[in-house]
Amino acid sequence: MLDFITTERKLQSTLSIERYIHTMGVVKTALKLGNLYGADSYKVHVAALLHDCVKDYPPDMKRRFCKEFHVEVDDIMLSCIDLTHAFLGAEVAKREYGIVDEEILDTIKYHTTGRKNMGIVEKIVFIADYIEPNRKTFDTLEEARKLAFEDIDKAMAFILESTIEYVNERNRPLHPLSVEAFEYYSGLEKN
Ligand SMILES: [Fe+2]
Ligand SMILES: [Fe+2]
Repeated sequence: MLDFITTERKLQSTLSIERYIHTMGVVKTALKLGNLYGADSYKVHVAALLHDCVKDYPPDMKRRFCKEFHVEVDDIMLSCIDLTHAFLGAEVAKREYGIVDEEILDTIKYHTTGRKNMGIVEKIVFIADYIEPNRKTFDTLEEARKLAFEDIDKAMAFILESTIEYVNERNRPLHPLSVEAFEYYSGLEKN
């Protein structure tokens, strides 16, 4: 069982203050959603807490650890190095925080790109990451917040669509996992 106090201390030493505040917002929101949708609150809590555990590593460190730990990052992730923080985060959660539960590790791994057919804990953390209360308001946030508590799959489709638009507008590389996830969740909506 994970010792939350030690983990929070360790996270505080590796994350910026803003990121730590964001993380705590994700934990709070994820637990609320977990309660609503009947997900395992321990898994939700651990995954939310660790989802960004390597996000503030400097780019070189991300690159080096991806190599050293043989993290399966692809060229798109390497071209936009911040994208590696999800896959690398899962590996670091395993090695440094002692997480062995595959559902928790997958939740960390896919919290940025999403993927098709995600488990309940994965969806909850993915959504909580987007809607947590400390995020500065942007166009699609209120709708996402509303949908999150009404229909979790609709919220997934909506957030994925907004994220894809955001990425495209900025000419950033779009990861195929996100496209696949969007197609999957928008397809569910039509049925
Ligand atoms: Fe993240
Ligand atoms: Fe995050």
